[in-house]
Amino acid sequence: MSTTINANAAGTWELGDRTVNRLGFGAMRLLNNADGGPSDRGRAVEVLRTAVELGVNHIDTAAFYFSALRSANELINTALAPYPDDLVITTKVGPGRDPSGDWVHADDEKELRGQVEENIRQLGLDHLDVVNLRIGSGLDRGEGSLKERFEALAELQREGFIRHLGISNVGVEHLEEALAIAPVVCVQNQYGLVTRREDDALIELCAKHGVAFVPFFAIGGAIPGASPFGPADRTGEDVVAEVAKAHGATAAQVRLAWTLHKAPNVLAIPGTGDPAHLRENVAAAGLRLTDEDMTRLEAIG
Ligand SMILES: NC(=O)c1ccc[n+]([C@@H]2O[C@H](COP(=O)([O-])OP(=O)(O)OC[C@H]3O[C@@H](n4cnc5c(N)ncnc54)[C@H](OP(=O)(O)O)[C@@H]3O)[C@@H](O)[C@H]2O)c1
Repeated sequence: MSTTINANAAGTWELGDRTVNRLGFGAMRLLNNADGGPSDRGRAVEVLRTAVELGVNHIDTAAFYFSALRSANELINTALAPYPDDLVITTKVGPGRDPSGDWVHADDEKELRGQVEENIRQLGLDHLDVVNLRIGSGLDRGEGSLKERFEALAELQREGFIRHLGISNVGVEHLEEALAIAPVVCVQNQYGLVTRREDDALIELCAKHGVAFVPFFAIGGAIPGASPFGPADRTGEDVVAEVAKAHGATAAQVRLAWTLHKAPNVLAIPGTGDPAHLRENVAAAGLRLTDEDMTRLEAIG
């Protein structure tokens, strides 16, 4: 593994007219400690600043990433504004949370517009670089048509509030439906070595259309449909550990690197509130798995 830690070690990808390093960062884990208590504010700010120093220029967030005392968007704004020119902040709308924390569904144009504006205000921007329409609730894949909701976002794009559009928690049929309405730059779904491998086909469809596939829970490996903070699926852990040992790497790094080796259009957005884990995750951009490693890891999935 390369000794210099930089997110650019795994190469870049074009999200529309924005170029990002394939190894990015997810902001969801900045809010709470493992025990559920509020994260240390200074440490969360440090994680964000260090991520950018290490070359991360793609950060995933949402207005509904908040806890009693912390908001991911506020932390990003505080830590990084004025934002570097090359930084792409991706956010998501659809199911969200009201101030009490209860889940609410933004199903119509007015509600989606409100969520887009909320993200713009919190991040201190004039427009959003990438907005994912997240369908379904919780971690379940959405069902039914996304037509009206995606058309509403396409209208906001025409009005200049959004630069590029993506979709999240979707199947092949949703990508096909969305592409017929407006260009799609990314698909964000739960996916990992042993979870949601049915999306191997979706990755290929994305590649065919020049769309990035952005997996979440690639490290955490939460069981699909269950709590992201619940037990992980650790099938094949022994093989992952052997591959990791051979490279002087950790299991988390192998899980991340495996996603990046799947295809050039796969981007990573690992989340952490831990500065040491952050460095480890960015270093995974430089981990080169061999064909033999990939064959062994594929056999688990
Ligand atoms: N579109 C959607 O519906 C959706 C849903 C969920 C998440 N997301 C996005 O996807 C991002 C990725 O998901 P995620 O944050 O849950 O990341 P993840 O890749 O699944 O990993 C996060 C978990 O693994 C731990 N971890 C991180 N790095 C580690 C390392 N090097 N070694 C050991 N443990 C490590 C974290 O705890 P520590 O903090 O202790 O490191 C946390 O418990 C989120 O941040 C969010 O932006 C999107």
